[in-house]
This record gives sequence, structure tokens and C-alpha cells, in this order.
Amino acid sequence: VEETLVLVKPDGVARSLTGEILRRIEAKGYSLVDIRLVQPERDLLAAHYAEHEGKPFYEPLVEFMMSGPVVAIRVAGDRVIEGFRSLAGTTDPTSAAPGTIRGDLGRDWGLPVQQNLVHGSDSPESAQRELSLWFA
Ligand code: GTP
Ligand code: MG
Repeated sequence: VEETLVLVKPDGVARSLTGEILRRIEAKGYSLVDIRLVQPERDLLAAHYAEHEGKPFYEPLVEFMMSGPVVAIRVAGDRVIEGFRSLAGTTDPTSAAPGTIRGDLGRDWGLPVQQNLVHGSDSPESAQRELSLWFA
């Protein structure tokens, strides 16, 4: 079965939304395979976000992701990569659809990076790469 990497980002952990996010993943019918609380270092985030290096939001993104603990979750299920991205909603929480994690629980805080609560791998290749980084 397919697997994806979900991260509850530092804003989600700080706002005590980890349980709510896990609840939505489980309610959808996906399985939690592994979970850990991580204080990520720059090297891990540089590898994780390599595709965004050089973009204006890259440095604020890495700083934000180092600002507190992150919950990393290995999630399994048929078409879970697409399915979790659908649960998460679009990147910008202000315009993400109600019913999604970002749309229901997120908002803009006037900061240089979008604090949008969760990450989900965007392809099978990304999922394998990211799972091997966070669950080495
Ligand atoms: P992830 O699941 O976290 O990867 O989100 P995504 O796939 O919806 O977004 P993407 O991979 O394009 O960008 C990674 C993260 O960078 C986003 O989740 C945001 O936190 C941040 N980000 C992306 N695009 C922008 C942008 O245009 N402006 C700002 N300020 N932040 C951005
Ligand atoms: Mg992405």
C-alpha cells in the first residue's frame, strides 16, 4: 500500500492541533504506521525543502520549521498521497477550502512565510525521499 510523510508543522504543535490533525487522518481511514516528535535541524530541512532553495520564502520557511518541535507521521493507505493533500487543502490557509485542515484551522498571520499547519508529500518519489529523511 502507498505511504506518505505528513508533518504537523511547529504552528500546529504549538496550537495543540496535533490530536485534531491525527483525528482527521484516522477518520478518513488511513493508518498511522510510525510517529515521532522531532526538533529538526537545518541540514534535515535543507534536504527536505531542496526544491525551494533560492525562493524568497525559503529562509523564512526553514527558520519557521526550526522554531519548535514537529510531529512526523508515516501514513499508509490506498492513494494516501493524493488523499492527504486533499485533506490538507491548498497551500494558502486563507483561501483553502472549508472542510480542509488548512481551511478550517489555518489563517494568515502577516508573517513572511505561510504558516499552514501541515506538510504532505506531493508524489511517490517525494514520499520515498522524505520518509527516508524523517524516518532514517
Ligand atoms: P507542503 O505540504 O508544506 O510542502 O506545502 P505545499 O506543497 O502546499 O507547498 P510548497 O511545497 O509549494 O511550499 C512549501 C511551504 O513553503 C508551504 O507549505 C508554505 O509554508 C511555504 N510557501 C510556499 N509558497 C509560498 C509563498 O508563495 N509564500 C510564502 N510566504 N510561503 C510559501
Ligand atoms: Mg510541497
